[in-house]
Amino acid sequence: MSHEYAVELRDIDKVFHTRHFFTRDEDDNRRRIYHKKTVHAVDHVDLAVKPGEVFGLLGRNGAGKTTSVKMMSGLIKPDSGEVFVDGMEVESNRLKILRKVGVVLEGTRTCIWPLTPLENLAYFGNLRDVRGSVLRTRAEGLLEFIGLKDKMNVQVRRLSRGQKQKLAICIALITDPQVILLDEPTTGLDVQSSRSIKDKVTEMARNQGKCAVVTTHDMSVAQELCTRIAIIDAGKVVTCKPTDELLDVFREQRYEFRLDRTPDVAPLKAIPGVNNVEPLNGQEEPGLLVTYPADQELRSAALYSTIQHLSKEGLVLRSVSQLQQTLENVFLQMTSDKKASL
Ligand SMILES: Nc1ncnc2c1ncn2[C@@H]1O[C@H](COP(=O)(O)OP(=O)(O)OP(=O)(O)O)[C@@H](O)[C@H]1O
Ligand SMILES: [Mg+2]
Repeated sequence: MSHEYAVELRDIDKVFHTRHFFTRDEDDNRRRIYHKKTVHAVDHVDLAVKPGEVFGLLGRNGAGKTTSVKMMSGLIKPDSGEVFVDGMEVESNRLKILRKVGVVLEGTRTCIWPLTPLENLAYFGNLRDVRGSVLRTRAEGLLEFIGLKDKMNVQVRRLSRGQKQKLAICIALITDPQVILLDEPTTGLDVQSSRSIKDKVTEMARNQGKCAVVTTHDMSVAQELCTRIAIIDAGKVVTCKPTDELLDVFREQRYEFRLDRTPDVAPLKAIPGVNNVEPLNGQEEPGLLVTYPADQELRSAALYSTIQHLSKEGLVLRSVSQLQQTLENVFLQMTSDKKASL
C-alpha cells in the first residue's frame, strides 16, 4: 500500500430514518405514518488505520460498528464526510475498491446456496478478475486453511452455519485484498476455526503489511488480535488507543489484599485517596479489593496508609497484588452509563 493510511474515515456522519405505517385512517381508509424515528448511527467519526494494523471496533449493540464497516467498504454512503481506502475516495472509485477490500458482514448470506464452496469462490473471484490457476490454487489454499476442504464440492445449503461463515471469510480473501473488514468474524465458530482466523489475520497484517478492521463482542479476541482499538458508543468514538495503552488506563487502580480475617471496611474507606473498598468473601482466604486513584502520588500515600491501618488493627497481611486489567473491564467502564473519561 502506498499511502500512510489504509482506511480513513473523515468526519463521517450517518443518520437512519425509519417509518412505520401501522394505522389506517377510518374515514378515507388510507395508511398513515404512525411513527417516525431517527437514529444517529455514526456521529462525526474520524478514524485512520495504517497498513500492518489490526484495528478493533468495539461497542455495545447498536453502537454503529456495522454501519462504519459498511461505509469503509462502500456498501452504504455516509450523509457527510469522506471515506478513503489506500488514499482513494471510496465513492468515486468503487470498482478499484472492490478489489482492494474484502468484507465479511455479520449474519449475511454472502454465499450462493445452490453452489458449492469451490464454485462460490470461482464465481466471486471471477467477478473481481481472479481467474485460472491463480484462482484455483488460492481457493483450495483458503479452504484448506479454514478447514473446509472436505466440503468444497458440497452445496452450500447443506453446510452448517459455522461452515457458511467460514466460506464467507474465504470469499472475502479470494482477491488477496489489501484491506480486510471483518464484522464479528469468530461468532459461532469452533475454537480451532476461530484460532485459524486469528492467526491468518495476524499473519496478513504482520508479514504482508495488510490492514484488518475487526468488530467483535468477544473481548478476548479483541485483546489478543487487535493492535489498536476504538470503542464507540451511540455512534461516537469514546476512545481510540493502542491495545496496551487502553489496558493501562485503569491498571494501577485496583489492589487485592489477602489477610487472616476480614477487617471493618468503614475506616479504610475514610483513608484519603482510597476510592473504594470491597470485602472479598466466599474465597479461600479473607481479603479486600481496594481501588485507588490513577494519580501516582495520591495512590502511593493511600496504599501506605492502608497497610499502616491494617497493621495497627493487628491483621496479618498475607499478600498484596495489583490486579491485571482486562479489556472486558476497560470496555465496561468506558461504556457504562456513568462513563469514565479519558
Ligand atoms: N438500514 C437501517 N435502517 C435503519 N436503522 C438502521 C439501519 N442500519 C442500522 N440502523 C440503526 O443504526 C444503529 C447502529 O447500527 P449498527 O448495525 O451499526 O450497530 P452495531 O454496532 O453493528 O450493533 P451490533 O453489535 O448489534 O451488531 C442502530 O441503532 C440500528 O438500529
Ligand atoms: Mg453489527
